[in-house]
Amino acid sequence: MTNLIEIKGVTHAYRTKAGPLPVLDNLNVFVPEGEFCAVVGPSGCGKSTLTRLIAGLMKPDQGEVWLHGERVTSPRKTVGMAFQNPVLLEWRTIIDNVILPLEIVAQRMPQRDREERAMHLLEMVGLKGFENKRPSELSGGMRQRASLCRSIVHKPDVLIMDEPFGALDAFTREDLWQTMRDLRAAEPFTCVLITHDLRESVFLGDQVIVLSGRPARTQHVLDVDLPADRTIESLYTPEATDMLHLLRDQIRLAQGRDGGAH
Ligand SMILES: Nc1ncnc2c1ncn2[C@@H]1O[C@H](COP(=O)(O)OP(=O)(O)OP(=O)(O)O)[C@@H](O)[C@H]1O
Ligand SMILES: [Mg+2]
Repeated sequence: MTNLIEIKGVTHAYRTKAGPLPVLDNLNVFVPEGEFCAVVGPSGCGKSTLTRLIAGLMKPDQGEVWLHGERVTSPRKTVGMAFQNPVLLEWRTIIDNVILPLEIVAQRMPQRDREERAMHLLEMVGLKGFENKRPSELSGGMRQRASLCRSIVHKPDVLIMDEPFGALDAFTREDLWQTMRDLRAAEPFTCVLITHDLRESVFLGDQVIVLSGRPARTQHVLDVDLPADRTIESLYTPEATDMLHLLRDQIRLAQGRDGGAH
């Protein structure tokens, strides 16, 4: 399997008034095409920085980021992003929000095809019938579903998600995890998910990367050996319980490595 994402020896420091703040330290991450890579690590260790580097929104001081065999040096249209806050445009309907990326990257696509594609996704995530509502008329979970559709409507090579389910209640979050798995079963795409939720990382991930405290290095890589058709119940099996314990221990270790407040 070829790697879709290759992060090789990436080191980065932010320039702050108090001097350089090292955030990533010789980080190596490899994500094969079609895989789901979950990333966990102590608060402030550099996870969001990593997403910005993959998206080409920043350049690392040292090392290289490769996507689909090309060196990433500038922002890419082939990367979809999703964040904790769904940031939908209030003056647009749900379907028009979902269509937005197509207006930018698929300018020649007929409007009818755009709408068909958006409706297909909205139906898949259970939002059929809400396409003409405004974002404020939907619940937080529904807004996040719409936002997910928007992130993948243009079929990006990779979807990068930075704590997308963090603001949702536990049950809504579990529903969204299942939706995420359904979406990927229907059209496989490579994913990088930043999360603080270890159960989420095991439920969704093919691999879970534990980053060390700042500056982040790879503390541990876990291959999630659970069935592809896993359900929430799979998280209560002895195998999953062992994985969750291991991840918890690794995060504790990682916190011990944290360079402390700057
Ligand atoms: N633009 C910036 N300039 C200076 N320092 C920054 C900048 N962005 C982030 N930092 C600092 O770099 C460190 C890593 O930030 P980052 O947001 O990548 O961490 P994180 O792992 O995503 O944190 P969290 O778990 O809280 O989301 C933090 O100490 C943060 O304060
Ligand atoms: Mg962050």
